[in-house]
Amino acid sequence: MKIAVLPGDGIGPEIVAQAVKVLNALNIGLEMEEAPIGGAGYEAAGDPLPDATLALAKAADAVLLGAVGDWKYDKLERHLRPERGLLRIRKELNLFANLRPALLYPELASASTLKPEVVSGLDIMIVRELTGDIYFGQPRGISTLENGEREGINTMRYNESEIKRIGRVAFEIAMKRNKKVCSVDKANVLETTELWRQVMIELSREYPEVELSHMYVDNAAMQLVRAPKQFDVMVTGNIFGDILSDEASMLTGSIGMLPSASLDANNKGMYEPSHGSAPDIAGKDIANPLATILSAAMMLRYTFNDEANALRIEEAVKKALAQGYRTADIHTEGCNKVGCAAMGDAVVAAL
Ligand code: IPM
Ligand code: MG
Repeated sequence: MKIAVLPGDGIGPEIVAQAVKVLNALNIGLEMEEAPIGGAGYEAAGDPLPDATLALAKAADAVLLGAVGDWKYDKLERHLRPERGLLRIRKELNLFANLRPALLYPELASASTLKPEVVSGLDIMIVRELTGDIYFGQPRGISTLENGEREGINTMRYNESEIKRIGRVAFEIAMKRNKKVCSVDKANVLETTELWRQVMIELSREYPEVELSHMYVDNAAMQLVRAPKQFDVMVTGNIFGDILSDEASMLTGSIGMLPSASLDANNKGMYEPSHGSAPDIAGKDIANPLATILSAAMMLRYTFNDEANALRIEEAVKKALAQGYRTADIHTEGCNKVGCAAMGDAVVAAL
């Protein structure tokens, strides 16, 4: 079992180090090799996704990623920017299914900005399509019109098979949960998502046990903060999923708690926290490593089929929280405020 470890930028290296520590503590013979991506890739090889990094990721069974991006690269040409490395590796590895579970640990009910009764018991699985939509659609770019004014263009597009394969992932996951899928679109305005809705309805005939509902994305954004417990599985396109998963993460207390798995058709996957590189707090040992540690648990579950050790990690996280350990982002009065590395140690000790 070989894992490509790509720490990336900002807080990436410190949070990934904690997840690696936890994986090593399991002592199950995981082989890990590191490579640079994002700004670190640009520094090392002039490319946010160096060839050697891509080759390592392709050869590995799974990829563990920290985060990419730093303001200092904002002035680079677009194709050299860190985010491009992340988008390219998702596309190159065909990781079309992004699973972002928003789960509230009871200990963190008071860390959420929402009332505890609104979020307690929350357990949503967001299934975000990851290799299509306006993120990748052509044409795109910034050009100059005849009148000298500049125009920016991006294209939202999905074909039927892309919609179907992500829909299938959502329905299959729902079958193992509460059998409810809410498909999020903007079918009242956008044809791309009108097709999305039609395909979801067609697909749902293969899953008679699953209750399919539809929601416009603006309403979904509102319902997520009004009554989030109405959701079981939410399935949506790349851009809506990007936005809604950030929103959902705050229901769990902090974006520092939300892991993710990005899977291809054979469950090869890349595992990364849903949050970004937070360069403002990088190197200060205050970042929350739990989303990355929980992403490592998802790796064991989805790619290595090792439910027992996935649960071991998740239980250890729960235990560390129950023992009162909190990083700054989830800290509330009376708890034990610790840094990134100490939080990793607390999880290892709980293992
Ligand atoms: C995410 C991030 C990325 C995205 C960025 C860093 C390109 O926000 O994984 O949600 O937009 O997909
Ligand atoms: Mg995002």
